[in-house]
Order: sequence, then structure tokens, then C-alpha cells
Amino acid sequence: MSKLFTTFKLKDIELRNRIAIPPMCQYSAIDGVPNDWHLAHYTQLARGGAGLVIVEATGVSADGRITPGCTGIWNDAQVAEHTKIATAIKKAGAVPGIQIAHAGMKASANKPWEGDDHLPEDHAQAWQTIAPSAVAFGANLPRVPRAMTKDDIERVKSDFVAAAKRALEAGYEWLELHFAHGYLAQSFFSPHTNKRDDEYGGSAENRGRFLLETMQAVRKVWPENLPFTLRFGVLEFDGHDEEYIQDAIALIRKFKKSGLDFISVSIGFTTPDANIPWGAAFMAPIAERIRKETGLPVSSAWGFGKPDLAEDAVQKEQLDIVMIGRAHLENPHWPYEAAKELGVEKPAWVLPAPYAHWLSRYQM
Ligand SMILES: Cc1cc2nc3c(=O)[nH]c(=O)nc-3n(C[C@H](O)[C@H](O)[C@H](O)COP(=O)(O)O)c2cc1C
Repeated sequence: MSKLFTTFKLKDIELRNRIAIPPMCQYSAIDGVPNDWHLAHYTQLARGGAGLVIVEATGVSADGRITPGCTGIWNDAQVAEHTKIATAIKKAGAVPGIQIAHAGMKASANKPWEGDDHLPEDHAQAWQTIAPSAVAFGANLPRVPRAMTKDDIERVKSDFVAAAKRALEAGYEWLELHFAHGYLAQSFFSPHTNKRDDEYGGSAENRGRFLLETMQAVRKVWPENLPFTLRFGVLEFDGHDEEYIQDAIALIRKFKKSGLDFISVSIGFTTPDANIPWGAAFMAPIAERIRKETGLPVSSAWGFGKPDLAEDAVQKEQLDIVMIGRAHLENPHWPYEAAKELGVEKPAWVLPAPYAHWLSRYQM
């Protein structure tokens, strides 16, 4: 019996199965406003049968976008388009989620397929980046950000709060704060990038302060009955992993006490010098540890794109839901293929009726 194809309930929200589509930037917006590309893309993914579709890292402010093509959620024009996307995802039977983000030192970049590096400082669309300290990521992202003042910190926190309110207004039912991948929040937590000597830097408790305060501020405006989640890099693969993971667990316990419902376990990506052991489902044991030691339900991504791996992670209670990213870009009907492979009865019924009816009637 497949467990991947069983429902998952969190707060008042029930996913039709444990397959989720993680946030994946499309770099295709103008002025942060999503368009037809995004509507078609997310509708197609939701029609494929996943239980949860999380819309890409969406800037809480213009300077919080990774590239000028990233989506935003700081004005009404953006909310109007997000409303169409959230409605379409829901109509297709999936739960509409969104990841809200500030890109910090990794902002003001080119599209991946146009260089994947920082825009030149004199580029018409470039902007000043900000971060906890004036420390660059390095490698392809060499720009040195401006160290944030206390006013900047307050401004970004309130941008997260405003973005969460707008996400709710647009109809999203699953909120994910982007505290991972070397973007602003993760860079506060990481000793690689946080060199502050005030209460936001130094000890692990201090490095976690911006994350905790942001999360607590957003918690106040996001409804209790809807999943309130975040994505967080719990290690960097930089040779200091045990210490980092223990600090991360201590912080996640505080998040939980402050009302976090769920965590997407990921990687820090604050240094180009990490030695990441890429491989199928390699994050599963790490996510399992976070699940056990914090008592929160978890998801993870990175290489679960083979149905038996996804099924296995759920069966073994390593993950509560499984993020399937690139495999969905390859085949938006991944859940249908997985259902067939895993021997789910009447697999076509993961698809919408106009497809399912014919595929279940005439088996080819
Ligand atoms: C095109 C693309 C865009 C991505 N954008 C985001 C993003 O907006 N936010 C995020 O947290 N991760 C992002 N990621 C990482 C994915 O969420 C996911 O962790 C990654 O693709 C690994 O999962 P997979 O092996 O199933 O593809 C992106 C990945 C891809 C391929």
C-alpha cells in the first residue's frame, strides 16, 4: 500500500497526497508581477496531481528579489496576479502555497541562463544588496553587500509581515518563509556571512535572532488555522556540520514554541566552499533527525524524483511530505507516473477528470 498517496493534514488544510512541488524560480516576471507564464506553469503543475504547489521565492520587496525577473508580493498589481495563480492551483485540487523571501547578498543577479552571476553594479537594473555584514558570497556572486543597520532589520521584518498579509489576501493557504539557501535569513544564521558584533551576531542565539523575530512577527498576521512553515538550511557541508545542525535544532525548537507548524529541511548555501554529497535522497536522514529531535513534521527535496525513493522516505517516516522539483519540470504528470509505478489502484484518478476519464477507460 502506497503511503505517498495518502492524505496529509496540517491545521485545517488537507493535502490529497504527500507529493509537494517545492518553490522553483521562473525568473520570468516583470517588476515582480507574475504573468501568463506563471499562471500556465503553476496550473499545469497542480493539474499533474501533487497535493501541494509552492510558488517560487517571491520577493517581500524589490531589493529582496534574486533577479529583476523574480516575482514579488509588495504591491496590489502583484497580488492581483497571485490571486489568479492561487485560485487556479486550488481549482486543480492542490493546496496553493507560496515562499516569501529576501535574497540578501545573492540579490541583484542575472537569470541563471544569462550568466547566473551578479549584475554589473552600473547595470540599469542592478541594485544595492544588503546583508548582515559586508561579506560577499564569492565565486559567481562577488558583490559585497552593505551591512544592515537596525533600521534595515526592522524594515525587512515589516516587509515580511506585509508580504504574508498579501499572500493571504491572494488566497495562498500554505506560507513558507525562505530562511534557506544563503539568502538573507540564512546569512544571518551562518557564521560564514554574519560577522556582526551587536545582538544579531556572534553566538548562535544572536545569529538566530533575526530569523526568530521575523518568524514571530509574521506569525501574528498569519491565521492559526493555516500551515505556517519555513525552509531552513540546517547544515552547510563545510566541515562544521554537527555544531551547525545542533544550533539549527535549538533554533527550530524556538520556532516551534513560537508557533511554527512545519519545516522544509534544506542546505545553508552561504559558502561556495561547501562539499555537498549530492546523490539520490541524500537529505533524508538529516530531515529524519530534524523530525525526531524537534517533533515537527518535515519535508525535504533534492533527488527524490524516483517514485520508490519518495515512497520509501514516507514509509520510513523520514519525511511527512516529499518535495519533487526538477522531475516535475520534466514531467508535470509525475504523480500519475508515480501512482502507476507504485501500483496505486486507479492511478489515473490523480489527474483531472477530463484526462482521468479517458486514461482509466482505455488502458494503453
Ligand atoms: C529552476 C529551479 C528554481 C528553484 N528556485 C527555488 C526557489 O525559488 N526557492 C527555493 O527554496 N528553492 C528553489 N530551488 C530548489 C528546489 O526547491 C529544490 O530544492 C531542488 O530543485 C531540489 O529538488 P529536486 O531534486 O526534486 O529538483 C529551485 C530549483 C530549480 C531547479
